[in-house]
Amino acid sequence: MTNLKNHRRFKGGRLIVASHNPGKVREIKALLDPFSAEVISAGELSLPEPEETGTTFVANAELKARAAAEASGEMSLADDSGLAVSALDGAPGIYSARWAGEDKDFGLAMRKVETEMDDAVDRTAQFICALTLAWPDNHVETFEGTASGTLVFPPRGERGFGYDPIFVPDGYDITFAEMAPEKKHAISHRADAFQKLMAACFA
Ligand code: IMP
Repeated sequence: MTNLKNHRRFKGGRLIVASHNPGKVREIKALLDPFSAEVISAGELSLPEPEETGTTFVANAELKARAAAEASGEMSLADDSGLAVSALDGAPGIYSARWAGEDKDFGLAMRKVETEMDDAVDRTAQFICALTLAWPDNHVETFEGTASGTLVFPPRGERGFGYDPIFVPDGYDITFAEMAPEKKHAISHRADAFQKLMAACFA
């Protein structure tokens, strides 16, 4: 079991969500709803978006959280996440957003996953999320969460964002994009990472 005593706690006040992705910001705000935090996004503050030069979800989450905390002098929370397809050796992985191109066209990204998978027998995939809470003195706390499932084509559903329309979580027969947001928030990779972060730093 994790030793909770070794984690630095969030003492309340303003928290900057270090993301310019409206889908992610919406989900993170909903997950933070029960806590006494005033939440504002890096996009709303027009903070610059750092280049994601890390080679892991954790490295990129820490880089984004530290950049926002440094630029604002306030605490920040960053999420780096993506879809890891088993038959593609974990691709698109940390490049999940980049597969959608400059236009952020996830129809295109999902078609690319379908094409690359071709007739692979293994249709399993995982969503992975690294969440980092950063303090202005450069201290960080990072937690990883996962959601396992199966990919389906063609895409189904209008809710959620990104690759949600092709991902059916284990134990369900509907995609994340067909699910009520509260349900996705209870079982997603982001929720998994969030529960760990909350237990360690918000308890
Ligand atoms: P980044 O973390 O900003 O590099 O981008 C993560 C990308 O992964 C998003 O743009 C989505 O394409 C994908 N992604 C992450 N989380 C989810 C999710 O909950 N549903 C669908 N796609 C996701």
